[in-house]
Amino acid sequence: MTPLEIQHHKELYMDYCRQYIHREGLEKLLNYLEHTDFFEAPSSTRFHLNTRGGLCRHCLNVFETALSINKNILLPKQQSGESIFAEPIEEESIAVAALFHDVCKCNIYKEAEKWRKDANNKWESYKAYEVADDFPFGHGEKSCYIVSHYIRLLKDELLAIRWHMGMYDVGEGGTPNRSSFYAATEMSPLVVLLQLADMAASHWLEETFK
Ligand SMILES: [Fe+2]
Ligand SMILES: [Fe+2]
Repeated sequence: MTPLEIQHHKELYMDYCRQYIHREGLEKLLNYLEHTDFFEAPSSTRFHLNTRGGLCRHCLNVFETALSINKNILLPKQQSGESIFAEPIEEESIAVAALFHDVCKCNIYKEAEKWRKDANNKWESYKAYEVADDFPFGHGEKSCYIVSHYIRLLKDELLAIRWHMGMYDVGEGGTPNRSSFYAATEMSPLVVLLQLADMAASHWLEETFK
């Protein structure tokens, strides 16, 4: 991503936050993010948008995708009385959940020199990212913790951010985690909305750089 694109994404991110979120502490949270590598960090080491500026672009993609799924699928079904969840989701909550779900990825990706074989079977070095997390508190859990320090999160937002990895996050935690995850999906439509939008953005929209 070019510096100009990174700057444009940062401005769009700030605009979305200020347009959709009206909550005490927002400016402090944005100020915190500006003092981390949030706007320059990649979105992952080896998968979607593993490139400079990828994390912010990913959060924009998740937000835009979540708004679209809500507007085109969930909301019409709620309006026609066909959804299990009668109450529409506030767009502010969609913004909070989507734009801040991966705040846990700030300051954890470091550039490193790696080695691989080229087409002629010769070793060549290349630059890639690796993880060095000084607060390994869990993925969604860490985002909840950091964001809660600045703004008050509603129960639905906490559940959505905590469980945004869905079944990928159940892992060795097994049955208790699985039960909690399912219970969360039954409590709030935002849980599945965020998870869907995260998957769709990552797998439909975001390139992986080799
Ligand atoms: Fe995530
Ligand atoms: Fe994500």
